[in-house]
Amino acid sequence: MLNCSNLSKTYGAGTVEVKALDNINFKIQKGEYVAIIGGSGSGKSTLLHMLGGVDSPTSGEIYIDQTNIVTLPEKELAIFRRRKVGLIYQFYNLIPTLNVRKNILLPMLLDGRKVNEDEFNSLVHTLGLQDRLNHMPHELSGGQQQRVSIGRALIYRPAILLADEPTGNLDHKNSDEIVELFRIANTIYNQTIILITHDEKVALCADRIITIEDGKIVSDKAVK
Ligand SMILES: Nc1ncnc2c1ncn2[C@@H]1O[C@H](COP(=O)(O)OP(=O)(O)O)[C@@H](O)[C@H]1O
Ligand SMILES: [Mg+2]
Repeated sequence: MLNCSNLSKTYGAGTVEVKALDNINFKIQKGEYVAIIGGSGSGKSTLLHMLGGVDSPTSGEIYIDQTNIVTLPEKELAIFRRRKVGLIYQFYNLIPTLNVRKNILLPMLLDGRKVNEDEFNSLVHTLGLQDRLNHMPHELSGGQQQRVSIGRALIYRPAILLADEPTGNLDHKNSDEIVELFRIANTIYNQTIILITHDEKVALCADRIITIEDGKIVSDKAVK
């Protein structure tokens, strides 16, 4: 479902040029759970931003299903981002002035969609946030805030979940709960997951681990 070919990204020009991604090639099947690991500055976040259509590559193609998202006009790209991918970051990126319910529902509110309350309640229960719906983000723990951001990423049941160090700011217990949510999204909802992590234990929960160094894939292995 995802096919990345000859993908390169260069920031800056001349003496300040940084080749963040250098001819990346891989395919990911629908329903795969892939962890991306690599040192700091190796290009992991850059790659995730390309896959999510948040930033565009210097060259190369990214096919998601039949669409090359690199050449999509901005308007269609915005719709792709909202409906096809769910993005999760280390620092949650919640809207501080909206309560938990509205933060989770944000993609639907932006799209003018009607909310199915049964589906919403079922998601909120999976996330363990049923008693926090009217709270504001600053009233929540880090783990709870991350669960809200995962809720926002899951509300559309997007085909692909992209997560950049989602447990990087959490303690072990909260980290385990977040990893469990990804497992549920993957096995129950058949969502494709691409997850960047520093944490070996988190990476080993995936089906496959891709290692990046200096913008290149240096290893791509199935997890036994
Ligand atoms: N907006 C940017 N402008 C210039 N250089 C950048 C920018 N974003 C990232 N880089 C550089 O690209 C390289 C890869 O960065 P990044 O993808 O954030 O790495 P990682 O997520 O693996 O730590 C680094 O050398 C970083 O300094
Ligand atoms: Mg990063």
